[in-house]
Amino acid sequence: MFNNKPQHYPASLEAIQAASEAIGFSMPSDFQTGALLQTLAASKPKASVLEIGTGTGLATAWLLAGMDATSNLISIDSEASYQTIANECLGQDARLQLVCTDAADWLVKQDHATFDLIFADAWPGKYANLEETLNLLKSGGFYVIDDMLPQPNWPAGHDKKADDLTHYLESRTDVQLVKMAWSTGIMLVVKK
Ligand SMILES: C[S@@+](CC[C@H](N)C(=O)[O-])C[C@H]1O[C@@H](n2cnc3c(N)ncnc32)[C@H](O)[C@@H]1O
Repeated sequence: MFNNKPQHYPASLEAIQAASEAIGFSMPSDFQTGALLQTLAASKPKASVLEIGTGTGLATAWLLAGMDATSNLISIDSEASYQTIANECLGQDARLQLVCTDAADWLVKQDHATFDLIFADAWPGKYANLEETLNLLKSGGFYVIDDMLPQPNWPAGHDKKADDLTHYLESRTDVQLVKMAWSTGIMLVVKK
């Protein structure tokens, strides 16, 4: 049946969801975003993947589930209490490196790293440090952002920031993008 149900769920998803609910984590990626990230990750053998904003590891689990055995994922969050859950549920996966730091600081220090897929799910990498982030993307690489449709937790004025980001990315000549008014509103950007 054609619906929003994902094809294959990550094994650790239920445990991460339960732990996230237990601490009241209020910013989880949804299953549609996760399944999209999983599918995009599967398109890139030997991929280097970057997630900005691990949270408790929900999208991390979907990315790992799509990646092949030779791919690797760096996931960054500044909040240790969230990332601890990702570490408990996913930390045994040798492809994953969890980094607990301010992503803005981390991004400006990257000289040589390049990535095949970047899921930018925090303020840095999306509404700040966008140039540094896009500079880390390989040609043909995916830059993915969600929460581009109005969300109940948006503060006043955030709709303008989302619109400005959309228009800015659309104006760039070095990317091809598609806006998906689906899930929380996803923008899939490919570096040309
Ligand atoms: C939308 S949540 C991430 C959700 C997660 N990707 C998921 O799939 O459920 C945003 C995360 O960004 C983190 N964050 C906020 N500011 C940050 C910063 N300056 N550096 C690193 N992480 C940051 C927050 O702690 C939070 O966990």
